[in-house]
Amino acid sequence: MTDTITIRRPDDWHVHLRDGAMLQAVAGYTARQFGRAIIMPNLTPPVTTVAAAQAYRDRIMAALPAGADFTPLMVCYLTDGIDPAEIERGFTSGVFTACKLYPAHATTNSAHGVTDIMKLTGVLDTMQRIGMPLLIHGEVTDGDVDIFDREAVFIERTLAPLVRDYPALKIVLEHITTAEAVDFVEGSGPNIAATITPQHMIINRNAILVGGIRPHNYCLPIAKREKHRLAVRKAGVSGSPKFFLGTDSAPHEIGRKENACGCAGIFNAPYAIETYAQVFDEEGALDRFEGFASLNGPAFYGLPVNEGTITLTRSDNPVPATLGEGETCVVPYFAGETLRWTLAD
Ligand code: NCD
Ligand code: ZN
Repeated sequence: MTDTITIRRPDDWHVHLRDGAMLQAVAGYTARQFGRAIIMPNLTPPVTTVAAAQAYRDRIMAALPAGADFTPLMVCYLTDGIDPAEIERGFTSGVFTACKLYPAHATTNSAHGVTDIMKLTGVLDTMQRIGMPLLIHGEVTDGDVDIFDREAVFIERTLAPLVRDYPALKIVLEHITTAEAVDFVEGSGPNIAATITPQHMIINRNAILVGGIRPHNYCLPIAKREKHRLAVRKAGVSGSPKFFLGTDSAPHEIGRKENACGCAGIFNAPYAIETYAQVFDEEGALDRFEGFASLNGPAFYGLPVNEGTITLTRSDNPVPATLGEGETCVVPYFAGETLRWTLAD
């Protein structure tokens, strides 16, 4: 049995670091494990300009613990009226790494999102031409579509036509949760990839609803039935370069989760790499862990892999019930349970 594993320093290709006090509270968790992270731009107001992204990047750097070796990769939030020239300027100057598409009202802070992606022709033409990745929250928002079907319907109605019309556009389908998403990505060209969260490899929808409502297992896209979890998990550990690590860690203060209308989002950042390691270990796939965590993402984005390594050891790692205090008190994923891997300092 393998009891120690050393891999190249990994990256998180999808994380919400928030702003203000929450940013101060959570940034260190991500920086401890990851060399880089794709920083989600769904602040209020969202990050839609080069200047706003630079200022946010500066706030993130200021929130890091002393000596942290971490690079935030900034993302432009797409709106209906966004200017393609601003996007190109941000990308060519190295401020924007990608653009994020939130269908309007799909999830937290997405009120400014896009109402019809096909109206963004100028933006999509530009992104395809300059090789800038489009990161997609792939859910339709129509009230008549069941929440458990929203990803599959998005793939059929929006993503498939988008890929047909922009065959060279680099697309990451974020935080996939369904067998349909796995099939779509596997059946597409090398310019189509997906991120996978730890929770979508571990929980199905029972974890939200059986034995009482468990708000800390609620995120969007919502966890689906077991056959989908198995498909996503299999894809993640498969060794395919199309799938890579993206935690979608999304902290909300405890009172906003344990609430009559609780926010979507799972805060998995503190133990993310240990959680993924546990999954790969359970699947007998530790030999493929480095590809998923540290190699496939940089290859897709056209970036070098990180210098340096991290080491995980097989040892009990109890997860506290809560982290932080007051307005930054958050319940971590796996709260009160024990993970079987520990990241060495
Ligand atoms: C995210 C958040 O809270 O910002 N929530 C979530 O459930 N994943 C938004 C998102 O990425 O959907
Ligand atoms: Zn997210």
